Amino acid sequence: MEFYSRKWVKPENLNPYGTLFGGQLLSWIDEEAVIYAMCKLGKNRHLVTKFMSEINFVSSARQGDILEMGVDITACGRSSITLRAEVRNKITKQTIISIDRIVFVNLDAQGRSAPHEYVWQGQDAG
Ligand SMILES: CC(C)(COP(=O)(O)OP(=O)(O)OC[C@H]1O[C@@H](n2cnc3c(N)ncnc32)[C@H](O)[C@@H]1OP(=O)(O)O)[C@@H](O)C(=O)NCCC(=O)NCCS
Repeated sequence: MEFYSRKWVKPENLNPYGTLFGGQLLSWIDEEAVIYAMCKLGKNRHLVTKFMSEINFVSSARQGDILEMGVDITACGRSSITLRAEVRNKITKQTIISIDRIVFVNLDAQGRSAPHEYVWQGQDAG
């Protein structure tokens, strides 16, 4: 898995307990993963998030932490593309969250699933 984007945890990203708000983290991952998938498809596809598997918040992050987000493709179907994701502390490498499956579906102009025509080679080379 390659780690691309980095995030700096700021006051506006925290929950009332002073640690990173889980919803913020999920938003970052969703965006990171869909951008990655869009880049892989290589055309102006219309991807929506269809499914996220069990989400494991492994450890918390605090204000000032630098996080890095990793994604890679694990499966590819007719209209769907599946990724796994991990966010970890950039310095300590401690995992913050891992998600085994995030499924995006390509839509046509009527909002129906449509072939994305991406041919996945089986192992994500990044
Ligand atoms: C995306 C959507 C059009 C799919 O509708 P659908 O009736 O399930 O479509 P299909 O049955 O043709 O399935 C489409 C693909 O999704 C996959 N899929 C469907 N349900 C799934 C599930 N629960 N988990 C994983 N994959 C699923 C199918 O296997 C299929 O993949 P493939 O084409 O690669 O074989 C519809 O569910 C939808 O509009 N959802 C809302 C999406 C959204 O608003 N997301 C939040 C904002 S981005």
